[in-house]
Amino acid sequence: SVQKIKQKGTLVVGMSADYPPYEFTTKENGKTKYVGFEVSLAKQFAKDLGVKLVIKNMDFDSLLVALETGKIDAIISGMNVTAERKKSVDFSNTYYSGDSYFLINKGDKDKLVNVKSFNGKN
Ligand code: ARG
Repeated sequence: SVQKIKQKGTLVVGMSADYPPYEFTTKENGKTKYVGFEVSLAKQFAKDLGVKLVIKNMDFDSLLVALETGKIDAIISGMNVTAERKKSVDFSNTYYSGDSYFLINKGDKDKLVNVKSFNGKN
């Protein structure tokens, strides 16, 4: 519960950090860093609650059991609603529709055709 999270002073979020741009890892000075928009979201939740964020990185398939057994307080891992999952856990409202686009000028349409074009390697 939120009360319990505030009492222990940590929000423990489980994710499978292998899913860009949602959550993934980068190396900074040899140190693994969690990044992605859901990592930012988790950080903001912890901040709003006034607690420290702890990220537990695990296999996607381990997340539900970890939540049910209290090893983590929440799952933030790009997990979609399914009837099966709804039987065991409570989903929030959706915050990302996936209906998201990358826009360029019409004049660049034939020059920028894939990711490599942005390096001038087209
Ligand atoms: N959206 C898919 C699902 O809900 C895959 C999510 C995978 N997420 C991850 N962090 N690897 O099953």
